[in-house]
Amino acid sequence: MTDQRRAAPAAAASLEGRVALVTGGSSGIGRATVLELAVAGARVVVADTNVAGGEESAGLVRGLGGEAIFLECDVADATQVRTTVEAAVAHCGGLDILVNNAGISGGASLLHELDLETWDQVMAVNLRGSFLCAKYALPHLMAQGGAIVNVASTYGLVGAPGAPAYCASKGGVVALTRQLAVDYGLRGVRVNAVCPGYVDTDMGGGRARLGPEGQAAANARREAAAARQPLGRQAHVDEIARVIAFLASAASSFMTGSIVTVDGGCTTTFNHG
Ligand SMILES: NC(=O)c1ccc[n+]([C@@H]2O[C@H](COP(=O)([O-])OP(=O)(O)OC[C@H]3O[C@@H](n4cnc5c(N)ncnc54)[C@H](O)[C@@H]3O)[C@@H](O)[C@H]2O)c1
Repeated sequence: MTDQRRAAPAAAASLEGRVALVTGGSSGIGRATVLELAVAGARVVVADTNVAGGEESAGLVRGLGGEAIFLECDVADATQVRTTVEAAVAHCGGLDILVNNAGISGGASLLHELDLETWDQVMAVNLRGSFLCAKYALPHLMAQGGAIVNVASTYGLVGAPGAPAYCASKGGVVALTRQLAVDYGLRGVRVNAVCPGYVDTDMGGGRARLGPEGQAAANARREAAAARQPLGRQAHVDEIARVIAFLASAASSFMTGSIVTVDGGCTTTFNHG
């Protein structure tokens, strides 16, 4: 029996006194994560290009008696990311948790019909954005003993129709997660990823842009695909946020480099059309 002290369960899950930066926190999974981390006791910095949504997320936290601020930031822009991390640290006195959640789908297309701008944009937000945020956050995370949680996707683990750039970018996030875990474990930072399956969000405002009919058809396709999976439905955003909060907390203290599917079982079966 080793002499390793067990943390008290309640204290392990608490994020009291911790500071978290959540990218893409203006809506969807990001907003749910902002709220989940705040309820666990963290002070939260919401970073997003969507100003109205970000202010609303921070306001929701304050309405619950928590602490949050919004900072406008395009995660694909190195200067903006550096400035945002510096402002978060200056405002909160440090940084303990980074959730790399900002992401875009890039729409549906076969690779030979995909325009170069879309490929570059999806890579810039999903993969370069995760790199940039980690790059500027890591010095602070190392100083405090921190955690990074990357929001990848089941599409980074298996091929999916019509999503070449998205699948490649999320596959890159999965690989980056494992690589960072190797370099930063002994430097005091754990790095894990969640791979959500179908989650009921308006990813990238994409469905809103389709108009009512296209939106209904897209929703019907997602629901039909989700219905064929073991749990037979899409996830609620809170079901992803709870796992992110777990990976950000000391409750997951022996996990690093883990790629955690939160997908209703879809990657366990061939039957996920
Ligand atoms: N919804 C799903 O089914 C699903 C499944 C697997 C993974 N994901 C991933 O979950 C994450 C969150 O997606 P969501 O479903 O909540 O969608 P969403 O569109 O509601 O949230 C994405 C957020 O990222 C922000 N964002 C986009 N580009 C940005 C940029 N350049 N800089 C900063 N912020 C930016 C958006 O403004 C938005 O607030 C994404 O990384 C997505 O790839 C979603």
